[in-house]
Amino acid sequence: MQKVGIIPGDGIGPEVIHEARKVLDAVAEKRNLTFEFEEFPLGAGHYLKTGEVLSDETLQRLSEKDAILLGAMGDPRVKPGILEKGVLLRLRFHFDQYINLRPIKLLDGVPSPLVEANQKIDIQFVRENTEDFYVGLGGRVKKGLSKTELVLKRRTYEAKFDIGIDLEDEDEMAFQIGVITRQGAKRIMDYAFQLAKRKKIGLVTCVDKANVLTEMYGLWREVAIETSKKHGVEKEFQYVDAVALHMVKTPERFKLIVAPNLFGDILTDLGAAIQGGLGFAQSGNINPSGVSMFEPVHGSAPDIAGKGLANPVGAILSSALMIENLGHEEAAEDVEHAVRDVLKGGKHKTADIGGKTSTSRIGDAIVARLIGE
Ligand code: NAI
Ligand code: MG
Repeated sequence: MQKVGIIPGDGIGPEVIHEARKVLDAVAEKRNLTFEFEEFPLGAGHYLKTGEVLSDETLQRLSEKDAILLGAMGDPRVKPGILEKGVLLRLRFHFDQYINLRPIKLLDGVPSPLVEANQKIDIQFVRENTEDFYVGLGGRVKKGLSKTELVLKRRTYEAKFDIGIDLEDEDEMAFQIGVITRQGAKRIMDYAFQLAKRKKIGLVTCVDKANVLTEMYGLWREVAIETSKKHGVEKEFQYVDAVALHMVKTPERFKLIVAPNLFGDILTDLGAAIQGGLGFAQSGNINPSGVSMFEPVHGSAPDIAGKGLANPVGAILSSALMIENLGHEEAAEDVEHAVRDVLKGGKHKTADIGGKTSTSRIGDAIVARLIGE
């Protein structure tokens, strides 16, 4: 039995999670799996009622789960950032979910604005989730002499930066520091190359901008070369600008891409566009030896909440990613096949791709397909 914490969240979060739960129940029955679900009512409602975003006690209870499935955070009644940072970022940080896995798949029946129909696109996109330019180190200084001390505190290391700046002939300067550690690069590369092996993918594409940002991505490359040798899987290096171009022109050439945090953030949104929109995009925030969290890529979409218009496919595919990571690969494949079958032919389309099928009808159709009705 595996324990799953469910955080439906705000806006369309609860609606899409409801469909994902239906699908999980169906596949569990089909494959004889047992999941014990516990819901955590985090989000705007809880915050407005109690003033609490995420308590230590809730963190403790979530830490006893095998995985977390989350809908979305964010509500117009709450200042932007409070829930998103207070729940999402805190969970990712607390559980050191250093991998952001965002598979990019083209599904038959879902029109892509960027790619011709019937192209086979199936990319495992692995984004580093804790370092690079997203470590929050930076500052602004005025003309003249200034001193700043910055501290980078991570679960596995700590670094202090004593920065003295003497700014001449300019009024103000802002700066931001990016960081890559050997261990940080090693653990994401290990995951990427192991995933390639598990999925029988022969080539890992490593993204960087090592021709300009030579220090950070020099280390990144060094580690990629070592890890490729260690796992016996081939690698290629590509600059981020070239990857952006190829993702639009020839996306089928990519099978597994590993990218540093910032470039990965940008390229994965391009990936969502290739897939036909945010409503279809799935993701996992993964710590292979800790608690991982799976969520659709989209936000809480307050503009369509409560109207039965939400596309639940991103959430359903995220729950498939979750059970795959819990070790149930066949069950995950069942879900993906059911989703593909239901979308194929274009009979079932939600409003985001110009159709009329409601959120729950799509969920019902996927469940029916799963149990062979
Ligand atoms: P959003 O992803 O919620 O919505 C963007 C657009 O896509 C909207 O027009 C929405 O209706 C549509 N959309 C999104 N998901 C859809 C779905 N499943 N089916 C059909 N249409 C869908 O992004 P937005 O509007 O920038 O943010 C809204 C709130 O969500 C904000 O509070 C934001 O901070 C939060 N947010 C939360 C995320 C998370 O929980 N991981 C991620 C992104 C935003
Ligand atoms: Mg983004």
